Amino acid sequence: MFEQGVEFPCGGQGRCRGCRIRVLNGKAEVNLAQQERLSPEEIAEGWRLACQCAVEGELEIELRQWDAAILVDETPFAFRPRQGLGVAVDLGTTTLVAQLLDLTAGKVLAVSTALNAQARYGADVMSRLHFAVLGGGQHQLESLIRQQIGALIEQLLFSAGRQGAEIADIVVVGNTVMHHFFCGIAAEPLTHYPFEPAEGGLQTLRSGALGWKLAGDPLVRFLPCLGGFVGSDVLAGILATKLPERDDLVGLVDLGTNGEIVIGNHEGMLCASTAAGPAFEGAKISMGMRASTGAISQVTVAPTLTPLPSEEGIKGRCSHDGVHCHVIGDGTPRGLCGSGLVDAVAAGLELGVIATSGRFSNGEASWMLAPPVALTQNDIRELQLAKAAIAAGIKLLMQRKGATELGRLYLAGAFGNYIDRTSARRIGLIDFPPETVEAAGNTALLGAKLALFSLDSEGGSYAGVRRCIEHVALNADPSFQDVFVEELAFPARCAEL
Ligand code: FES
Repeated sequence: MFEQGVEFPCGGQGRCRGCRIRVLNGKAEVNLAQQERLSPEEIAEGWRLACQCAVEGELEIELRQWDAAILVDETPFAFRPRQGLGVAVDLGTTTLVAQLLDLTAGKVLAVSTALNAQARYGADVMSRLHFAVLGGGQHQLESLIRQQIGALIEQLLFSAGRQGAEIADIVVVGNTVMHHFFCGIAAEPLTHYPFEPAEGGLQTLRSGALGWKLAGDPLVRFLPCLGGFVGSDVLAGILATKLPERDDLVGLVDLGTNGEIVIGNHEGMLCASTAAGPAFEGAKISMGMRASTGAISQVTVAPTLTPLPSEEGIKGRCSHDGVHCHVIGDGTPRGLCGSGLVDAVAAGLELGVIATSGRFSNGEASWMLAPPVALTQNDIRELQLAKAAIAAGIKLLMQRKGATELGRLYLAGAFGNYIDRTSARRIGLIDFPPETVEAAGNTALLGAKLALFSLDSEGGSYAGVRRCIEHVALNADPSFQDVFVEELAFPARCAEL
């Protein structure tokens, strides 16, 4: 498996769970190390640690590692100690992350992650809304996500060796659609103009009512949304980055299928969401994939255009047509993830392979990056649509604030964590000096953790903070379409970049 690019993060010592496989056909025995690291449910479902298995016959397996890495949060934070345990959940459209905390010590005791099980009904919020409202599937989506988060909490307790009775509070954050699905609120108002939630406020539920069997029946709070398609994950991001305390003007951008943007400081904040499409997540890209083993995650212009040895070249790097590509897992390239796509287009612009209009200068339909992975004309178009939506959103909020620069711009989420800031500026996505742009990690999860310690203030409704945040409906702004069209082109080559 190592030869195929599979990584063994702890060197095969059975400690990290990074090499998890699921046996689909065949037999793989469970040794003591696996019993200690895998829950009984996982073992029953066929999960094993590859590094601890002796292969004695044909095996058909599923590889956990080829799922994208899910961004968790380890940021230290200030807190006022409370009794008991707390659970913070970041309920994303694609991924779920839950952390169990000791509220007395502010310490993370366990982490569990999963891909959102609702994804089988559509990768993005629009297709899930379609299934919920037109396909009558909202109840199905609701029970699926409640069950899945309940199982994640049980997994957390199992890994930390703790009991449900010790849990004092559970805080969940997520976008407006996830808020409605989890809390059982009719999502129909989110499918049409003005796309505003009917009940976007703080929702407080008993865990028993969600079907979770936790002794003590702790309270579960889903933090309030900020507006149509701007959910409590953004509110959590605002808390995590301390925007309401800043004197200088600060931005927070979460790059995803829906790009969420906040600009402001202690005097007030503006927030908006803009439909960026799935390009940043590698979807609708001809050889697009998530940032997992085999994905080209970085593309840089080769210092020399002399072809370098690609086969015997440095492991994990391929060189072709004037670019160097980094492949996750050091194996054969299988596709291109979001950060690789942004880099590839930036490199193409620098090399003159791509014109500022987005067309290939030589009129070809594709550009080979590292065989068999190529960038096509359509891929560039998809990226142009995504980056123009974000850039136009930022520009309009900046204009409303009467500002031309920011003291700091935080990029939230997994994609913001991996994107190269110089490439992002080169393609006109984030047009700020790279030194002012900072990857802020999983700010939604950090904000949810902070909320576990400040539920007393206004009962967790954050009414005071929310009063300082104005939601801007970009789709109702007459100038949005013009600015969006302006932003479709790439910036011309610029000496300082
Ligand atoms: S490589 Fe770490 S558990 Fe197998």
